[in-house]
Amino acid sequence: MSSLKIAVVGLGLGRHFVRTLAGHPDVDCLILCDADADRSEEVRQAHPEVSAIYEQLEVMLEKERPDAVFVVTPDHLHRPHSTLCMESGSHVLQTKPLATNLDDARAIVASSSATGKKLMVAHERRFRPQCQRVKALIEEGEIGDLIHLRVDAIADKRGQFKRAPWYASPEAGRSALNGTGIHEVDLIRYYTGRPIEAVSAFGNRLGGLDFPKDKTTAAVFRFEGDVIGQVTVTYEAQQPRGKHIDDHLRIVGTEGTIIGDRLYRVGEEDWEDLSGHSHDIRAGLQGAVLAFVDSLVNDTPIAVTGEDAFDSLAAADAADQSAARGEILRPESLK
Ligand SMILES: NC(=O)c1ccc[n+]([C@@H]2O[C@H](COP(=O)([O-])OP(=O)(O)OC[C@H]3O[C@@H](n4cnc5c(N)ncnc54)[C@H](O)[C@@H]3O)[C@@H](O)[C@H]2O)c1
Repeated sequence: MSSLKIAVVGLGLGRHFVRTLAGHPDVDCLILCDADADRSEEVRQAHPEVSAIYEQLEVMLEKERPDAVFVVTPDHLHRPHSTLCMESGSHVLQTKPLATNLDDARAIVASSSATGKKLMVAHERRFRPQCQRVKALIEEGEIGDLIHLRVDAIADKRGQFKRAPWYASPEAGRSALNGTGIHEVDLIRYYTGRPIEAVSAFGNRLGGLDFPKDKTTAAVFRFEGDVIGQVTVTYEAQQPRGKHIDDHLRIVGTEGTIIGDRLYRVGEEDWEDLSGHSHDIRAGLQGAVLAFVDSLVNDTPIAVTGEDAFDSLAAADAADQSAARGEILRPESLK
């Protein structure tokens, strides 16, 4: 399928998706949809390729019948929006998280199976060049067998909650782990490529941010083969503006160690610098969009399926449940 008609709904983060789609050789028609008409107009001004703007998803789907819709609306709207799009005949690229609860997540995946429409979840971290380099090092055996991985999200969410209050609203259903931390949970799953057998976690609500669930959670995941993964996420880490420290990655293997942007291979004298590989969100989003368009045009496999994204959400959910109940849990499976 070439000459695609694509719509993007939700133009906060969604405007980055538009940037990659505008001028893409396989995209003939680009449509915007946002309940906030001013946002759509602003994005259209920047991209003359846009052919139409809408305020209501239902109306847009009815009139335009797009080949694919990129769903970039708030987390709790992913289920109604993605299922509506697939039931109306459009393939869907949806931003993360798949949903904020497992019922909604199952419904989205089931809608893809029932309609035969493609569903990809834009877990954009996987597409950042630095993450792809790390994944390649692991797959090529450069650090030997995995022993331990740790990926942390050390964030201050004051600005985000002020800009977009839905992030901290009870109906959004976000926790620190299923909201921001889903990136890190997804990354340790992606890097190991193994199922998670058990999860144990603690969480707290310390600090001044008004948020309905745990704002800081430390979770430990035991993967098949005894590999240990660890994710800590906090929304309360205040740091100097523009000088944010992001030392968030540690991987220990039998033949080497990765810490942040540095790689040590057993037998070498010094660290190798990995910082030449971009960690930029725009590169990640662009990679996700290009992978999805490729899967539409060339009917290639979906890079991050709904089933795959479900397993990341189920792992985050098991950690939240573990923190609440004080038990070691196994993540739920899709079926
Ligand atoms: N790195 C990442 O992958 C990443 C980063 C940021 C946000 N996100 C995700 O992207 C999504 C959007 O986040 P955001 O920061 O852009 O939020 P936002 O609030 O800035 O933007 C959401 C947009 O959706 C629109 N919208 C809401 N309801 C709508 C409806 N019924 N119909 C049409 N438009 C509607 C709003 O008007 C708004 O413009 C969330 O799921 C978030 O978790 C992912």
